[in-house]
Amino acid sequence: MPYIRNATLADIPFMTRVINHAILHSNALWEEEPVTEKNRQEWLDHKHQQGFPVFIIQKSPHDPVAGFGTYGPFRPHAGYALSIEHSLYIATDQQGKGYGKALLQHLLQTATVQNFHIMIGGLSADNTASIALHKQAGFTAGSTIPQAGRKFGQFLDLVFMYKLLQK
Ligand SMILES: CC(C)(COP(=O)(O)OP(=O)(O)OC[C@H]1O[C@@H](n2cnc3c(N)ncnc32)[C@H](O)[C@@H]1OP(=O)(O)O)[C@@H](O)C(=O)NCCC(=O)NCCS
Repeated sequence: MPYIRNATLADIPFMTRVINHAILHSNALWEEEPVTEKNRQEWLDHKHQQGFPVFIIQKSPHDPVAGFGTYGPFRPHAGYALSIEHSLYIATDQQGKGYGKALLQHLLQTATVQNFHIMIGGLSADNTASIALHKQAGFTAGSTIPQAGRKFGQFLDLVFMYKLLQK
């Protein structure tokens, strides 16, 4: 069983590195400009102020950090107060070892305990690994929005994958 804990300031360099790799080398996140450690510190502070978790996953407390995951508001309007949007990132050299699966389960369990109603992920339609991970975890793929955004000069399709948390 991997070890999962809350992220601290000491994890900022790792999270900055991993998110910047996703920004520069994938369509996982539709941003083109790398973020700074200061930006990630502010992001972590904001998450904690809002009462949302940011989790770190690693093989054991003594092993290198493998990835991180979080959730936050799906949309800002009052009607969406029980709906959350999540994200997770595993370092490239740690992918394919079950960390994504374990972290997604932990996010689902925590969100259920926090009484959220539905967890939604907005995935780039070309992200086959993430789509497979979410299907395996019981998420349903909603309709795909063609050309919902752009990155590196190309329009990209967006698929919302969702899972109801409360029976
Ligand atoms: C997508 C991501 C989170 C998956 O995490 P991971 O630790 O590599 O995945 P796991 O080893 O836990 O695999 C769990 C399941 O995901 C699917 N999966 C993972 N990698 C896959 C790949 N390259 N191709 C197809 N399916 C894949 C499989 O269904 C797998 O189950 P299996 O091992 O029983 O076949 C990870 O690759 C990642 O961080 N990618 C970059 C950032 C990103 O895309 N984040 C998601 C944004 S929504």
